[in-house]
Amino acid sequence: MKKILITGGAGFIGCHLSRHLLDTYGDVELVLVDNLQRGRMDDDFKKLLEDKRIIFLNLDLTDPASYARIGADYDHVYHLAAINGTKLFYEMPQEVLRINALSLIYMLEWFRKHSAKGKFCFTSSNEAYASALSAFGKLPIPTPEKVPLVIDDPYNARWSYASTKLVGELFVIHYAKAYNFRALIVRPHNFYGPRAGYHGHVIPDFSERIAAKVDPFPIYGADETRTFCYISDAVRAMRMLMDSPKTDGQPIETVHIGDFHEITMRGLAEKLFEITGWKPKTLDIKTAPPGSVKRRLADVSKLQLLTGWKPEVPLDEGLKRTYDWYLVNPEKK
Ligand SMILES: NC(=O)c1ccc[n+]([C@@H]2O[C@H](COP(=O)([O-])OP(=O)(O)OC[C@H]3O[C@@H](n4cnc5c(N)ncnc54)[C@H](O)[C@@H]3O)[C@@H](O)[C@H]2O)c1
Repeated sequence: MKKILITGGAGFIGCHLSRHLLDTYGDVELVLVDNLQRGRMDDDFKKLLEDKRIIFLNLDLTDPASYARIGADYDHVYHLAAINGTKLFYEMPQEVLRINALSLIYMLEWFRKHSAKGKFCFTSSNEAYASALSAFGKLPIPTPEKVPLVIDDPYNARWSYASTKLVGELFVIHYAKAYNFRALIVRPHNFYGPRAGYHGHVIPDFSERIAAKVDPFPIYGADETRTFCYISDAVRAMRMLMDSPKTDGQPIETVHIGDFHEITMRGLAEKLFEITGWKPKTLDIKTAPPGSVKRRLADVSKLQLLTGWKPEVPLDEGLKRTYDWYLVNPEKK
């Protein structure tokens, strides 16, 4: 039987990853830790917790006393807990720094002492190199893992989160080496799907506007391109990387997870109009927000080389599932 810990288990990725691990492994004990700062005790999460293979612990990982409750000797640990959401980076950068840094350091200390035969997964972010663009003017496209990690302006609160991911990667790399445990760093790129939160993500934003029949329909940066990775594909990639013996060695691997089909914001809106059967009479094309990138594309060839992963859920299908979920789960205001 596998014993797995997921921190941030009530969040977007945590909840979908839990479902995937239960379905894939069958014989598994899953411990989910979350303080419900962002993750919610909603119907989806309550339904997940009905599974007898899950233990949920409502703990704050910035409190050292929490760790005695987590137990020991896990096969895999997915450390997802973090303060996430661009609005919060601006509103309380000092808390983003404190919570993300402390929870990672305490986790690593706990792991090396109580679970070091297992394997540790840290979710970093492409934010860790996002400001390379303003610092150096360009990034290679597609962007490989091995680009410089950069904070171009420590006074800009936006980079509070990015800096915890940047330093977090160093912590994981050097703890794994010093204490000789297996570890992995993943950088998620635009995961989407049901339960992804309500603000600052283009797909929930478009879905909300379509449901409200907003016309003229605003599109910011209509010609900018992005890729979107459906959440079931994303968590499958995480699990495949953790299962692969190819990611057991030193130095540890840092791996992008994302889709490679690019689409413009206008194309995305049009796809959603088609899926939902509603189309505005007028598009209100607005300039992109300041600092927005014209094209963002992660190089995911390393993920494919290590695991043979391919995305399975086409954008149309993923968008439909996501839209349907948001229709029956509107934001509670
Ligand atoms: N979703 C994405 O596309 C994406 C992109 C890049 C990086 N990531 C990273 O992946 C991880 C998971 O992302 P997500 O989208 O599921 O975010 P999320 O905000 O939905 O989940 C994070 C969870 O951590 C919990 N948490 C926060 N502080 C805690 C604390 N002190 N103790 C215990 N739990 C705490 C929150 O309540 C939340 O449920 C995060 O580390 C995030 O930075 C996600």
